[in-house]
Amino acid sequence: MSKRYRVVALPGEGIGPEIMNVALLVLDCAARLHHFSVQINWALIGPPALAACGNTLPQETVQLCRKSDGIVFGAVSQGGLLELRKQFDLFANLRLVRPSPFLFHCSPLKTEQLQSVDILFVRELVSGIYFGPSGRGMDSNGEYGYHTMQYYDWEIRRIAKVALRQAHYRQGLLTVAHKENALPHIPWSQLVAEEALMFPNVVVEYMLVDNLAMQLVMRPQHFDVILAGNLFGDILSDIGGALVGSVGLLGSASLNEDGFGLYEPIHGTAADLAGKGIANPLGMINSIVMMLQQWEEHAAANLILQAQDQLLSQGYRTADLWYQQAGSAEKLVTTQECVEYLIDAMENIFQSVWSRN
Ligand code: IPM
Ligand code: MG
Repeated sequence: MSKRYRVVALPGEGIGPEIMNVALLVLDCAARLHHFSVQINWALIGPPALAACGNTLPQETVQLCRKSDGIVFGAVSQGGLLELRKQFDLFANLRLVRPSPFLFHCSPLKTEQLQSVDILFVRELVSGIYFGPSGRGMDSNGEYGYHTMQYYDWEIRRIAKVALRQAHYRQGLLTVAHKENALPHIPWSQLVAEEALMFPNVVVEYMLVDNLAMQLVMRPQHFDVILAGNLFGDILSDIGGALVGSVGLLGSASLNEDGFGLYEPIHGTAADLAGKGIANPLGMINSIVMMLQQWEEHAAANLILQAQDQLLSQGYRTADLWYQQAGSAEKLVTTQECVEYLIDAMENIFQSVWSRN
């Protein structure tokens, strides 16, 4: 019996629907070649859901997600996403930054600084300042707004364990982002150090987040796993976009304790690109790769990654990666073409492996 997976697709808005449509063709191809099946249910979230049913996170969407093996998410400008993360307690957000040698020239950093960079951001996703008490008020000094950064110690401990486990299976270095010189009541360093006693093979270092931001640009090769709270992780991981050459390439997985997850590109709605057919679908596709890895469909995940390497090595570039250089053999492609080439490459690689065996 081949495996059957149920996936909820939440395209959202902006470039979300365009990249979702084509990325699901890639998933479909991977499933066909590797003999598993994926049933897709489409649902609404964010402003399109608000327009259709008066709520950015409709109950029907939540119910469908509850019955699924994974959620794939495009982008929303506001509303629904934070609630969805909270609803399913998707506290562990993983963002992998591994610049492709074929795209080193797309990054403002020098090639020598980018070689073998391989960073995993582990971002806490359902607490901190995005979820603390907030509001607007007025007192004798005038009108004001507030958002509160609040963390239970157990919330820090559980994300620390995820990051430590990742570091244990990777290169064994964990860098903890904190700001204890200004925010002393949220003791990331002490709590992570306590959890780290269970991981004697992991070296843990603690870095003030402002310094960490600079170090990420100055010497990205230093890092292995970076652990950060919600706000700092959001900001730091976008630096990853500069390292790989475009934020359009980066995918993410947001997981709960049971390993259930939501998979989304980190770039957001990119409203200026929407409807033009030029958005980079690789961030969405790389999120789907993370879903396949989470399902332990490693052969299917590797096939997509290999095909992506081939596509980039042959010079196919969406607009965000295209720099017209004299004498360059790079070919500008649309979202649709990018995926057509990717699927061709998947089929060819699969055929050539099959004919060798
Ligand atoms: C991200 C995004 C979201 C976040 C926004 C859209 C709320 O920036 O996933 O990085 O801040 O978490
Ligand atoms: Mg962000």
